Amino acid sequence: MILVTGATGNNGSEIVKLLAAQNIPVRAMVRDRQQASAIAAPNVAVVEADFDRPETLLAALNGVERAFLVTNSSERAQAQQMAFVELAKQSGVAHIVKLSQYAANTNSPVRFLRYHAAVEAAIRASGMAYTFLRPNLFMQSLLNFRRAIATKNAFYAAIGDAKVSAVDVRDIAEVAVATLTASGHEGKTYDLTGPQALSHTEMAQYISHATGRQITFVDITPETMLDTLLSVLPAWQAEGLIEDYAHYRRGEASAIAPSVQDVTGKAPRSFETFARDYAQMFSS
Ligand SMILES: NC(=O)c1ccc[n+]([C@@H]2O[C@H](COP(=O)([O-])OP(=O)(O)OC[C@H]3O[C@@H](n4cnc5c(N)ncnc54)[C@H](OP(=O)(O)O)[C@@H]3O)[C@@H](O)[C@H]2O)c1
Repeated sequence: MILVTGATGNNGSEIVKLLAAQNIPVRAMVRDRQQASAIAAPNVAVVEADFDRPETLLAALNGVERAFLVTNSSERAQAQQMAFVELAKQSGVAHIVKLSQYAANTNSPVRFLRYHAAVEAAIRASGMAYTFLRPNLFMQSLLNFRRAIATKNAFYAAIGDAKVSAVDVRDIAEVAVATLTASGHEGKTYDLTGPQALSHTEMAQYISHATGRQITFVDITPETMLDTLLSVLPAWQAEGLIEDYAHYRRGEASAIAPSVQDVTGKAPRSFETFARDYAQMFSS
């Protein structure tokens, strides 16, 4: 049995849908069954479990051979993922596919990259087989700017003209499904990027073309960006995003990796394709 955690989230929901479409039995872990209607399918068994309640995780892990691990990036993420790894090991899980992040490193100034590296180390030490997926910025993260784009025809971030090789979540999900359903990915770490590195100004041009409106990117200071983020996110996450954007601004996330093509046999989706497919969401 394959367990997909975070099954209501960006990556988890795409993975469950892809497995369902291939008629592969999957157990989809959610906190609240009522939120799982979008992933309902005959071969999808929904299980309610909470990373903060070990007894529910043990039930979710019962009989699982391969597990996809993701949490949102909160202050609790490292502890939640470490607990999951420990219980997965106890439950006899053979292979964990962990959603990590591009440039994960225990010495990084970016807190997200440090916690991902710490969890990767714990998985390596557990003796279970593993595959680490290290995606760059999600193209779908640009949807976080959609309110500003819809209302002001502009979006704002502290990145300057640095280029980022953002990746489409649909490609991450395809890589995840390949690693969960076929052998040969054990012990591998895959950097996942899109096919091009683009500045936010270039991304704005693609969004303009897709929406038929003139969308402008405006560079702002990290302080201004932090003020905005603090109005919608807990401080730990807002400060982490500022660290992430400083990392992008330093040009550390512009390399292009071949893993999506290598693992899935298909070229990664371009930002142009993403912008076209999500044009409606940038307008509402
Ligand atoms: N955003 C980016 O550009 C980017 C780039 C590279 C890597 N990443 C990494 O990607 C990960 C986030 O992936 P994502 O966007 O797919 O996640 P997401 O959409 O935020 O989904 C998180 C999932 O975790 C579930 N969850 C939260 N707390 C839980 C708990 N206590 N118990 C059980 N489930 C819980 C949520 O369920 P509910 O529906 O119940 O809340 C949701 O299904 C992070 O680790 C981040 O570092 C992000």
